[in-house]
Amino acid sequence: MAFLDIRRLRKSYGLAVALDGVDLSVEEGEFITLLGPSGSGKTTLLMSIAGFIKPDGGGIVLSGTDVTDLDPEDRNFGLVFQGYALFPHLTVRDNVAFPLKVRKWQKRAIAERVDQMLALVGLDQLAARKPRELSGGQQQRVALARALAYSPRLLLLDEPLSALDRSLRGTMQRELKRLHRETGVTFIFVTHDQEEAYAMSDRIAVFQNGRIVQIGAPREIYRHPASRFVAGFIGGNNLIRARFSSETGTLSLLGREIPAPPHFDPASHSRDGEVSAWIRSEDIAIGGGEGHHQTFEVTVVDRAFHGAGDRITVKAAEGEELALFLADGSADAVAIGAPLQCRVRPDQIGFLFPD
Ligand SMILES: Nc1ncnc2c1ncn2[C@@H]1O[C@H](COP(=O)(O)OP(=O)(O)O)[C@@H](O)[C@H]1O
Ligand SMILES: [Mg+2]
Repeated sequence: MAFLDIRRLRKSYGLAVALDGVDLSVEEGEFITLLGPSGSGKTTLLMSIAGFIKPDGGGIVLSGTDVTDLDPEDRNFGLVFQGYALFPHLTVRDNVAFPLKVRKWQKRAIAERVDQMLALVGLDQLAARKPRELSGGQQQRVALARALAYSPRLLLLDEPLSALDRSLRGTMQRELKRLHRETGVTFIFVTHDQEEAYAMSDRIAVFQNGRIVQIGAPREIYRHPASRFVAGFIGGNNLIRARFSSETGTLSLLGREIPAPPHFDPASHSRDGEVSAWIRSEDIAIGGGEGHHQTFEVTVVDRAFHGAGDRITVKAAEGEELALFLADGSADAVAIGAPLQCRVRPDQIGFLFPD
């Protein structure tokens, strides 16, 4: 049995279905991320786990105990939000001590625990400050120390880093991973940012319209998106419409007729000859290459420098726009408006089950 088992969870607001039968199993000590666009139900799931939202149906089981009807304070889960929700009139020390006082810990035990937590998040020198005297990152550290102070079994984090600027976000991502490793607490983390989800998670659950449409390790989701929605949402992919001819066994895509590769399965990947395919932007190269590549002709629309490489936008035969990510400097020879030959290996073309 899993540490946390969410079964068939449902929640509607009038006609709006926020959770449409969510199943999710989380292992103890796991770092799992709920990833999806705004309005897809991530916060509703997190708040249902915390006990602040009462689901219409389904259940939540923690270590074999049904907690679906327990009050939030009886679940004892830690919570961290985007807005830090610190007490403005209390010092850093008293903010972190607050949940321990509520739980009627002894004075000395509180002092020891607060010292330990402030050291863990690197704020021991700032214990006497008020929240307004701290930067955004420091305030978020106080919120983390407060949420972890009473050793919750589960830490729920709802877009906790989205108010921070880019470089601070990277620092806090590493900080969160370190806290996760050092405390061993199970983390359920919400974000709408794919790169953040990739960087942090053991597993990612992708949300679409109140459902989890795919769950797996970051690498697995990136390499094997299960649907057109996931392939489009997780970034880096070019979605392409293709046609399959069962008479010739060929696919027509990007203005070419190519033999269907072995991993193409007509029964599951085509419907009335229509095919959804995708190619990752880093898998398209420029120039002709060798025999096992498929080439196609495009026109260059845009070229943008991205530090580690160049992102080129091109228009293919039927007007489809494709993105190429060239990390090898080959973009230097590319001119906007000029024709260009591109290549891809047929085994790197992905095929999707029609939505
Ligand atoms: N209190 C509420 N009243 C009415 N509709 C709500 C309420 N909370 C959420 N919703 C709706 O439920 C859906 C899921 O919302 P939410 O869980 O906040 O999504 P996310 O966190 O992924 O952005 C959305 O369509 C949202 O408008
Ligand atoms: Mg939300």
